[in-house]
Amino acid sequence: MFGLTRARKTAVVAATAAAAATALLNAPTAEAASSRIVGGTTTTTTAYPFMMQITDASQKQFCGGTLVSATKVVTAAHCLAGESAGSVRVVGGRTYLDGTNGTVAKVSDIWVHPDYTDVTEGNDVAVLTLSTSMPYTPASYVGSSDTGVYAAGTTARIIGWGTTSSGGSSSNQLRTATVPTVSNSSCASSYGSDFIPSDMVCAGHTSGGVDTCQGDSGGPLIIGGVLAGITSWGEGCAQAGYPGIYTRLTTFSDEVTEQVES
Ligand code: ARG
Repeated sequence: MFGLTRARKTAVVAATAAAAATALLNAPTAEAASSRIVGGTTTTTTAYPFMMQITDASQKQFCGGTLVSATKVVTAAHCLAGESAGSVRVVGGRTYLDGTNGTVAKVSDIWVHPDYTDVTEGNDVAVLTLSTSMPYTPASYVGSSDTGVYAAGTTARIIGWGTTSSGGSSSNQLRTATVPTVSNSSCASSYGSDFIPSDMVCAGHTSGGVDTCQGDSGGPLIIGGVLAGITSWGEGCAQAGYPGIYTRLTTFSDEVTEQVES
């Protein structure tokens, strides 16, 4: 079972060139294509102060994260595979990947969901504990009973420094876009049994064109001003019929709170 999932994931990676072509075809105009994340606009960490870069010890960004208290950051479990507390930094208040401003924090503890194995198996959630406080306003996150936030069609905001097309390069400046939340039945028709509705929620336009992409993982899906999801995975990026898949945070909010309050 695990081997099949792995094989499928490899096939998805091999399909990225085709996905990039699809994403470009979905661009409304050639000019928009050159300025898109995958269909977004530039923004700043002033606009989204809870938006954190997860970096290596050289401050090279590889994932996003969301500040939920002065010393706690919610991100994706898959971002932290092979990482140790000493190998990771969290950078706040830095809009540009090549910037040197903002606040850099070391990490004293990494909690990865104990049941996490692979993005297609769910449980893609982790909490970092910072050694020093971030002087930025944290985001609120959903409670376990807030399941109504995922009603199909609800507008969700995605934010990150990820690639501007599948297989493309990262964006030096932070970007954001909005995408509609997709029903579980629709997402299951796209992804089959790799979509686990208890642990995942999908967001994206049926026609594609707007999506998170590589490097956006771990970052926020914001619904109604509150952290409701974590960028997790998808087939290519911004492909028609393949919305982005986010960790369904209501399922994990009690476990996150345990980490945030410890
Ligand atoms: N796994 C990617 C990362 O590590 C995120 C991909 C999101 N893909 C998508 N089509 N929404 O950054």
